[in-house]
Amino acid sequence: MSRKPVIIDTDPGIDDAVALAIALFAEELDVRLITTVGGNVGIEHTTDNALKLVSFFGKRVPVAAGAAEPLVRELVDASNVHGASGMEGWEFDEPDRTLLLEKNAVDAMRDVLLASEEPVTIVALAPLTNVALTLKAYPEVKSHIERIVLMGGTAARGNKGVLSEFNVATDPEAAAVVFSSGVPITMAGLDVGWAAMLRPEDSERIRDESPAGEMFYALFNHYRGGSLRTGLKMYDAHAMAVLLCPEMYELVDTYVGIELAGSMTAGCTLVDLKGYLGKPANATVCMGIDADRFRSWMVERLAQCK
Ligand code: RIB
Ligand code: CA
Repeated sequence: MSRKPVIIDTDPGIDDAVALAIALFAEELDVRLITTVGGNVGIEHTTDNALKLVSFFGKRVPVAAGAAEPLVRELVDASNVHGASGMEGWEFDEPDRTLLLEKNAVDAMRDVLLASEEPVTIVALAPLTNVALTLKAYPEVKSHIERIVLMGGTAARGNKGVLSEFNVATDPEAAAVVFSSGVPITMAGLDVGWAAMLRPEDSERIRDESPAGEMFYALFNHYRGGSLRTGLKMYDAHAMAVLLCPEMYELVDTYVGIELAGSMTAGCTLVDLKGYLGKPANATVCMGIDADRFRSWMVERLAQCK
């Protein structure tokens, strides 16, 4: 089986860490580049965390640091959810800093995309600032992108605003650039993250069955996207899961609009399932999930992370 080339844009972040681990050990994927962005925590921490995770798993994947701030708005981070470091709960060894590229994330993405013999999938697990900048600075890369599979948005309630999700609401202008780019998009929003959470027994199985189980469980213990007892929202893992096992999801092609101007609604994703806006579909949206299958899939995948 040929491995699918991927670039992962991320702001680790505890749920990012889980998604990255799954990708690094997925036989289906060839992770060519990891790019970091300010989001859950500042760019210094997200970049350090990406290097620490790649080093922890002994993988030699290059990392490139990207935007510290959203395109227009101020960064308001989510350190209240992920801890001050972004990966609170586990003391990682000093990372292999030779993996950190001199070039910035935008140039690194362009280089990987243009050099690839086949189109590359971008998995975006953070505010879309880097992806938007790359599309704007180097529009010629569009034909080299297979698809953008992103964690972001929501068809219903929000986790950053009343109706807005953190990644999109942090940089709505960047999201608008991406969703209007014409590049194929798959959107894993809050909806599936809430419909399929890790239960306590799942977290305990991951702890006991994964060689990195102690580390994952320690992070879970500090992650405030739910709790070990009430259930953990593995938002970013859903973006990786819909890439690797789309049959777990109910997928709907529809138009997704990004609200930019609303004084109370900026950053909302208008998932227009009934076509009120009269616009052609620009995304494939995860609208349902086989939750039991996802939970066992997560345990199986994390058991491979060694
Ligand atoms: O809203 C959830 C998203 O915001 C996830 O990507 C999480 O890591 C945070 O970045
Ligand atoms: Ca993230």
